[in-house]
Amino acid sequence: MDTNHLKQQAAEYAARFVEPGMVVGLGAGSTAILAVRHIGYLLNTGALRDILGIPCSTQTEAEARALGIPLTTLETHPIIDVTIDGADEVDPQLELIKGGGGALTREKIVAQATRREIIVVDESKLVPALGTTWAVPVEVVPFGYGSQQRYLESLGASVKLRPGGNGQPYRTDQGNFILDCDFGPIDDPVTLGERLKQRTGIVEHGLFIGLAADVISAGAGGIQHQTRKSP
Ligand code: A5P
Repeated sequence: MDTNHLKQQAAEYAARFVEPGMVVGLGAGSTAILAVRHIGYLLNTGALRDILGIPCSTQTEAEARALGIPLTTLETHPIIDVTIDGADEVDPQLELIKGGGGALTREKIVAQATRREIIVVDESKLVPALGTTWAVPVEVVPFGYGSQQRYLESLGASVKLRPGGNGQPYRTDQGNFILDCDFGPIDDPVTLGERLKQRTGIVEHGLFIGLAADVISAGAGGIQHQTRKSP
């Protein structure tokens, strides 16, 4: 089964947790956008009604508007009932690396405002430890970013400035740069996340710890639905 089909299955499965009256976080990336499109389909066919969406990226916002999904903001609705978003890696504790699409800061703001964060992935994203296959994206203010690069290297990362178009660095929706930081498999993502947050100039990092309530992964054997164990 091809990966797009698996992503579609996970996205459609997750959309069943969206109910009338809910404020819904609309994630970014190729899997989350399939969930956004499915929600749009459910609304447009009358199978779902009365929801308000909060998009995690300008690209998702454009897609949601084109689908006719009514939108709101965190200023008007500071609590989100359910968010459906993707991930680049998921470990056995349901901790995540996100930000492959560059939307990590808005995604984390939305996730922290969400009662139930549902992550949709194909099974290739399941890893034994974060950092196994993916670098940690770190969003930095452009001013002095070389200093942040050296700091990240001092923490053990091999660091690459993410390229954009025309030979220029990639810019996030906030106008910042992304440094992709390959730490290899990460023993202690909580401590690493704290070290990243200590540094002025680092806006946000792609380690999402304690945020996913559910992970829905689609693979050759079908859908696997994991839920976070209570602490
Ligand atoms: C966007 O910034 C990311 O966090 C995505 O959610 C993540 O990269 C997964 O994207 P795909 O579903 O496209 O793999």
